[in-house]
Amino acid sequence: MLDNRSSLTESPFTDSPVALITGAAQRIGACIARTLHQQGYSLLIHYRHSAAEANALAEELNRLRPDSCRCLQANLTDMTEVERLAEQVIELGRLDLLINNASAFYPTPVDQVTQQAWDDLINSNLRAAFFISTRLSNLIAEQEGAIINLIDIHAQRGLKGYPIYSIAKAGLQMMTQSLAKELAPAVRVNGVSPGPILWPEAKAALTPEQQHEVVSKTLLQRCGSPQDIADAVLFLSNAHYITGQILCVDGGKSLFS
Ligand SMILES: NC(=O)c1ccc[n+]([C@@H]2O[C@H](COP(=O)([O-])OP(=O)(O)OC[C@H]3O[C@@H](n4cnc5c(N)ncnc54)[C@H](OP(=O)(O)O)[C@@H]3O)[C@@H](O)[C@H]2O)c1
Repeated sequence: MLDNRSSLTESPFTDSPVALITGAAQRIGACIARTLHQQGYSLLIHYRHSAAEANALAEELNRLRPDSCRCLQANLTDMTEVERLAEQVIELGRLDLLINNASAFYPTPVDQVTQQAWDDLINSNLRAAFFISTRLSNLIAEQEGAIINLIDIHAQRGLKGYPIYSIAKAGLQMMTQSLAKELAPAVRVNGVSPGPILWPEAKAALTPEQQHEVVSKTLLQRCGSPQDIADAVLFLSNAHYITGQILCVDGGKSLFS
């Protein structure tokens, strides 16, 4: 649902490059939003449940630059809402950068797994990213723009206890490479694969001992920050001769043996 009652096309919003960031109300997505906004982007902040956080972020950024940030709501496991989100952006008429960041993340022990968990994890992490990207690719092509997917180092070596999430992120990695081929030369498609950045919450929360074990398996012996991820996204957004690449931002965790 478009939060803003006035038409998106009635403002200088699209005079600047426009970025759509999915799942951007908080955590890493919000940091990417602040970083791109600082670089002069107008932002479409997508959220599902976090309306208060999304609106607070938009107000914060609009105070810095009037009418530079708007919110769009959609549940990305619902294809009707995915299509509606894409249509709202097409109606706006400009998109330079799409960041597929939204993600569900929780364990799915194989002896308790449900089809509902499969649908939720695969559709939020993979199906939605594919259909948003393909629906918006012509609009992005008009700006010779880019798509950046937030993947995970566990796309390469699955995370024990999280098989469906790992499968979804492996699909997102292949989607990055496949769409780089399909959408070239007009649209570049790259990925950022974070290691441990922000600990998961709720049903995916880790004990202090589990957190310590994860950090001990990074070469740099610490977690990264959301800004480390946002900086990688910004780099790829400006890297005009890079496509089909996936940048691990993981403190060396994927090399650890
Ligand atoms: N945090 C890390 O250390 C880490 C490590 C490896 C990879 N990553 C990847 O980096 C990205 C950002 O990580 P994060 O930890 O900041 O993400 P997050 O907080 O777990 O999730 C980001 C947002 O995704 C949205 N989302 C989830 N399911 C959705 C659905 N069905 N429809 C629409 N939106 C949905 C939620 O929006 P609402 O709150 O509005 O519902 C949520 O705020 C993710 O792709 C994640 O997989 C993160």
